[in-house]
Amino acid sequence: MSSRETPKTVPSTSQSREIFCQALLDQMTLREKVGQMVQADLSWKQDVKQLLREGRIGALLSIREPQVINEHQHIAVEESRLHIPVLMGNDIIHGYRSIFPIPLALASTWNPELIEAVARVTTAEALATGTTWNYTPMVDVSRDPRWGRIAESGGEDAFLNSAIAQAWVRGIQNYRDAEGRRVASCVKHYAAYGASESGKDYNSTDLSERRLREEYLPPYKAAVDAGVMTLMTSFNDLNGVPATANTLLLQQILRREWGFNGVIVSDYDSIGELINHGFARDHKEAALRSILAGVDIDMMGNAYHFHLAELVEEGKVPLELIDAAVLRILELKYDLNLFSAPYIDEGKISSALLRPETLDLAEKSAAESMVLLKNEFSLLPLKAAGKKIALIGPLAEERQSLMGCWCFDGQAQDVETLHEALQRNLPNNELSVTPGCSINGNETDFSEAINAALQADVVILAIGEADTMSGEAHSRAHLGLPGSQQALVDAVLATHKPIIAAVFAGRPLAITKLAQQVPALLMVWHGGTRTAQAFCDILLGKVNPSGKLSASFPRSVGQIPVYYAHKSTGRPIESTGTLQFNQAHKSSYLDESNAPLFPFGYGLSYSEFTYSHLKVLTPKVSRSGSLKVSATVTNTGKVAGTEIVQLYVRDLVGVVTRPVKELKGFKRITLAPGESTDIEFDLPAAKLTFLDLELKPILEAGEYKVWIAPNSAEGLEGQFELE
Ligand code: BGC
Repeated sequence: MSSRETPKTVPSTSQSREIFCQALLDQMTLREKVGQMVQADLSWKQDVKQLLREGRIGALLSIREPQVINEHQHIAVEESRLHIPVLMGNDIIHGYRSIFPIPLALASTWNPELIEAVARVTTAEALATGTTWNYTPMVDVSRDPRWGRIAESGGEDAFLNSAIAQAWVRGIQNYRDAEGRRVASCVKHYAAYGASESGKDYNSTDLSERRLREEYLPPYKAAVDAGVMTLMTSFNDLNGVPATANTLLLQQILRREWGFNGVIVSDYDSIGELINHGFARDHKEAALRSILAGVDIDMMGNAYHFHLAELVEEGKVPLELIDAAVLRILELKYDLNLFSAPYIDEGKISSALLRPETLDLAEKSAAESMVLLKNEFSLLPLKAAGKKIALIGPLAEERQSLMGCWCFDGQAQDVETLHEALQRNLPNNELSVTPGCSINGNETDFSEAINAALQADVVILAIGEADTMSGEAHSRAHLGLPGSQQALVDAVLATHKPIIAAVFAGRPLAITKLAQQVPALLMVWHGGTRTAQAFCDILLGKVNPSGKLSASFPRSVGQIPVYYAHKSTGRPIESTGTLQFNQAHKSSYLDESNAPLFPFGYGLSYSEFTYSHLKVLTPKVSRSGSLKVSATVTNTGKVAGTEIVQLYVRDLVGVVTRPVKELKGFKRITLAPGESTDIEFDLPAAKLTFLDLELKPILEAGEYKVWIAPNSAEGLEGQFELE
């Protein structure tokens, strides 16, 4: 049947998914089948509308205007032979119109319920405006803050990233609109993209299979276990094989070992990029390698569209492979209820956006994600009454930068500046505002900043990065304050006024000097639409900080990667070392400490939490049993506060060397002043499994250390034995 003939019967959606989708597949021509495997955007050189009519595009990308989405959907559904709707894919990474903190900041809440709620309201905005496929969450474990995309990640740890991955998937996929439509989540970038060498985006990764499986893969697996409907391959080559054509990743691990049945999409032209990798001679070979590896949809490439049908006709690609991929894609569309409800109701859009309760959640999540890094003399919360305040720094009047790196539809006009929010929150205080310098250039006006500081009782420094300094293709080799900002800090410091430094950034920064200089240091990140009010909530003590770092802050770039779950080495820094050439030789630097500036899991509060009475309730743990360990946590401060209590373990001797600490659990607790509580962790022994020499899971008998801790560098230490 030529593509112009009408089908005998168009199946009805009252049929079961299997019958409906199979009936549709049975009527498709090869070109129509390949069409379902092609994703294009409106910048494509081909005539997109005509291709939609011919059934030769199955998904669109990055169309943000709802009217344009509807227009194209109408063409696909009404003017194509088989009336198959298209998927509308977009990156709604930390909010659609209401913008939430960047993912790295959200991860600092250690609050999966909150992240799930953020994902749900974001999905409500996204679906109302036509997105049915959201390229989130990104769960690439990242230990390199030079990499701009660390902003989009859940940080350095597989366990925390896994909990967060599942929260995103639940929040996105469990939401349904009034017409029963849903959004598919897409976990990305599979795999190990966060390990890009030297923190340069798109760079190669080379990891042992042990490291890959133990430290990088668990968050993707967690998303699969949570039922994520789609997965995106990554740009990087991994151990010599580009991830987009990597059969170990896509077939062996993802399909066979994890049983993933969902749709696999390439990253943006990552099939075409096999040519640049030197892994395919041309687009045809790139298409061949990717389809044989198992990629269902070619995002923005010219490979499947131009070559896949021909490859089938030449017998190089079995038709069954195409049929299986197309069936998965049709089933996805069925599950999203697109066949029954393909269009959006443009009349309902405005009431779906920027809802007060959504913005309240944006404020709550921004405040919860801020991390108090230093607070000497209890400078924070600010006792503001009667104080003259100087707000100094290039972020003081910023709107766009507060939103962060991924916000196409967030609008600067929705964002209050820090200046405006301070004025509104402190109408009776004298407030001066001076940028002092630009964010990233050499334009400075230090004298005005110094004068402002001299006339004030307290200085708030609003410093850090612009939104354009992190995210995709925005890596940095220098991680100090950009431009002349450190010089501005030095100048203001010379006035000897109390300084509260608020740092806005999309990554951990190497701000060792700043951290020594100022008495109070708050990591604000890029917190979204309500950053400024959330900052005031923390500044004035309306909200007590509870965020804890999801990635270590380096003291200097030379330490990178610096992360808590490293190995001991044969000459660890804490040991006496080995006497060689008459000196103790240790694994360390001549000119820098081994410790990070601030470790993973670290963050202060206006309360003080004391940890005591560690009890290992099961000093001997059987393989089928659980480790039970408890400690008392007391709020010895003067205000109520929330603490994130962390559980770490170390396997002391193994058939392979094990990390010096591994996060295995965490709990959020809120305590009134003077209140104590016993926190108990119950860790099934099976969670101590790791991979043996043959990469087979092993639960090894032996001695372990365990910590209940406020962060990865401190805590109460105990021991247990796995029998
Ligand atoms: C990014 C993905 C994104 C895709 C579609 C790529 O450049 O790596 O994270 O989902 O573009 O916009």
